[in-house]
Amino acid sequence: MRTKNLEDFCTWLEQTPLSESIQQNLWVVPAIQTVHILSIAALFVSVVLINLRLMNLSQTDQSIAYVFTRFGKIVWWSLPLLLLSGGLLIVGEPARSLANDVFQFKMLLLVSVILVTVLLQKRLATDDKYWESTERRQMTARILAIISMSCWVSIICAGRWIAYTYT
Ligand code: HEM
Repeated sequence: MRTKNLEDFCTWLEQTPLSESIQQNLWVVPAIQTVHILSIAALFVSVVLINLRLMNLSQTDQSIAYVFTRFGKIVWWSLPLLLLSGGLLIVGEPARSLANDVFQFKMLLLVSVILVTVLLQKRLATDDKYWESTERRQMTARILAIISMSCWVSIICAGRWIAYTYT
């Protein structure tokens, strides 16, 4: 989706002093991209471990609540870093992402998967055996884990794809 207001906003943003300094210092974008990629690595390893446990495919000697508490922290610490590094990449070249359908799709997926993660974690906050207590809940946890994995993989693909859909 590309509206006139969005284009005007991008034009304004790329003329701000912060955007100009990102554009002029050639080392800044690769440095920010490195932070973005390292944060993706930390986040993705953690979501894989959480989701494998939800699917009963690993760490079955440990409770879902334990695995969620241990690796969930890394997820919630990585996200602000991704937001900050991603935000700076946007400031450096606003139209490249803000007006790009793939970027917008990536953000939609991100909001959706955050909601799924919050839902999973909220249930554990009131009852740490919640996702293990009945067969129906175990099945729901498995389905949510598959949805979550699909969203994270799609977010990574979309992130990489932005560069090839910029016109
Ligand atoms: C939290 C908000 C986020 C924002 C605002 C954001 C923004 C961006 C931006 C602007 C780019 C540069 C795209 C380009 O110009 O080619 C990018 C790249 C990328 N993003 Fe994000 N991102 C966010 C979160 C994430 C998350 C959660 C993931 C995956 C788990 C992710 C995966 C990627 C990947 C794989 C790239 C390509 C990196 C490269 O090829 O150098 N992003 N992101």
